[in-house]
Amino acid sequence: MLAVQHLKVAYGPTEVLRDVSFDVPEGKIVALLGGNGSGKTTVLNALTGLVRPRAGSVRLKGEECAGKRPDEIIRAGIAQVPQGRDVWPSMTVAENLELGAVTRRDRAAIAEDLEAVYDLFPQLREKRKRRAGSLSGGEQQMVAIGRALMTRPRCLLMDEPSAGLAPAVVGDMVDAVLELNRRNLTILIVEQNVGVAAAVAEYAHVLQNGEIAVSGPADGLLDDPAVLRSYLGR
Ligand SMILES: Nc1ncnc2c1ncn2[C@@H]1O[C@H](COP(=O)(O)OP(=O)(O)O)[C@@H](O)[C@H]1O
Ligand SMILES: [Mg+2]
Repeated sequence: MLAVQHLKVAYGPTEVLRDVSFDVPEGKIVALLGGNGSGKTTVLNALTGLVRPRAGSVRLKGEECAGKRPDEIIRAGIAQVPQGRDVWPSMTVAENLELGAVTRRDRAAIAEDLEAVYDLFPQLREKRKRRAGSLSGGEQQMVAIGRALMTRPRCLLMDEPSAGLAPAVVGDMVDAVLELNRRNLTILIVEQNVGVAAAVAEYAHVLQNGEIAVSGPADGLLDDPAVLRSYLGR
């Protein structure tokens, strides 16, 4: 589905991604892990065109996305749930969700997709007229996910969806990610919480020094003490 090859990103003179290559196979959940500041968010931003890669290729079902504008990449089928959720606090839940569909004109399909988001997250249907800023952290994360789903993506990028959530709702987030995957969405998830990554992902890649340092099936890799110690600081 998504093939990332030899991706290179620098901020001015600082090279953050030197040579990053990995695949996200269709229908799978793949985790991208790495220490703080290792470049995980930079990878996602490069995939969605928010930062421009210096070199490399990002192909979605064969279509080259590297170098395209964010709106073109969204239309090609990649959507991002940003780190820190980033919902508009003074807008209602429904308005936030509808923002995800601003580039679309297919009204009937937009209405269908909104219903699908409310079916996935019934709390959001109940609170659709509430200001997003008045919701709990977990509910705001649902809004951010729902907004990304409103672009009708083929591949969803999630940047630390469990970060800052109360432990009691982290399990709900895991269930939501698994349910999205059952609905045929291909997912690339960045997580600091190795437990969350292990619970959802089939494959995992660990970023270090601007490259993928280790990769493999999530079972095995993410319970290997040497991997946790060397790359993830635990
Ligand atoms: N817009 C930016 N300008 C300059 N440096 C940046 C910018 N964004 C991130 N960085 C730097 O790039 C590195 C990787 O950041 P980031 O991708 O956010 O890492 P992670 O998500 O793994 O914590 C960090 O050293 C960070 O300070
Ligand atoms: Mg980050």
